[in-house]
Amino acid sequence: MIVLGIETSCDETSAALVEDGRSILSNIVASQVDIHSPYYGVVPEIASRKHVEWIVPVITDAFNAAGVEKEDISAIAVTYKPGLIGSLLVGLSFAKGLAASLNIPYIGVDHIHAHLYAPHLEQDISYPYIGLLVSGGHSLITYVRNFDDFDVLGTTIDDACGEAFDKIAKFYEMGYPGGVVIDRISQKGDPRAFSFPFPSLHKGDHKYDVSYSGLKTAVANQLDKFWNKKYEKSIENIAASFQKTAIDIMVNRVLKAVEDTGLRKIVAGGGVAANSYLRKRLNEESGLEVIFPSSILCTDNAAMVAGLGYHYLLRGNKSDFKMNAEARVPLFRNIYP
Ligand code: KG4
Ligand code: ZN
Repeated sequence: MIVLGIETSCDETSAALVEDGRSILSNIVASQVDIHSPYYGVVPEIASRKHVEWIVPVITDAFNAAGVEKEDISAIAVTYKPGLIGSLLVGLSFAKGLAASLNIPYIGVDHIHAHLYAPHLEQDISYPYIGLLVSGGHSLITYVRNFDDFDVLGTTIDDACGEAFDKIAKFYEMGYPGGVVIDRISQKGDPRAFSFPFPSLHKGDHKYDVSYSGLKTAVANQLDKFWNKKYEKSIENIAASFQKTAIDIMVNRVLKAVEDTGLRKIVAGGGVAANSYLRKRLNEESGLEVIFPSSILCTDNAAMVAGLGYHYLLRGNKSDFKMNAEARVPLFRNIYP
């Protein structure tokens, strides 16, 4: 079964053709990074306008790259939540129109579930595991039982992990997207130059939660206080020290979840899962199986949407034309145990 995936939840216009939830025939990602870069962040109105302009060429490219005709697809999967409402509506409306004209079913999928599914496109991964979703919009530590069944153990109480990278990069005018730039600059810096603070959240309901607002304030406003005087206050040292702290905060809580649940497998996804220090840190943890998708499947892409959609469709699920886009989703949090 070939499924067309469409992803327009934020600032990437993406279309993919995926066979049987696994085999990627094409995965076109048109990034708006250059357009939003002068603003150091995504401008929602510009993002939705670009999706409108780009969606037809991107879908056409996806069909051409796969060598597939429209008549060959069995269904369409599209991200309908969460994300920027105007952006989501472009993909969702297009999916509905195309499904109606081809007389095939379509299924709306959750962007968070799709990120967690992304690593399954590249390898066989058995459930259950600890799913780590770290992106510009989300920071979730989850107990994953199946493609549509997970409990949120912990999340951020303020900024998402990627958002913290983006904000620090904006503050120091390092470039955009912040995570990519900080990861690159950090290679030349010393992570011991600053000892930025860790949040102290780790009690009761917040056992697996993270927070980035304190770190952000420390990095932005109080460099002198945390500076190790043996080092230069260079942008590389600031980036490396920030990156180490931001990732260590997350890894610390993930390892707590591993310890408490007894699950020895971690599967990561989302833009920040491309971070080189995160990959190194988790891969060095002995006795743990750690799975990261390749970089293109970490950041927003339609292959993960098509791959996940296939499993719903196989079960007979499909969406009706009344489905609406949703900007936010409530997080169903289960406190472990
Ligand atoms: O998953 P994604 O493309 O979009 C969302 O759903 O949010 O993630 C984008 C986020 C941005 O905040 C970006 O700065 C961050 O992922 N990011 C990284 C890296 N590459 C992208 N953060 C840290 N290190 C990276 N190498
Ligand atoms: Zn995403």
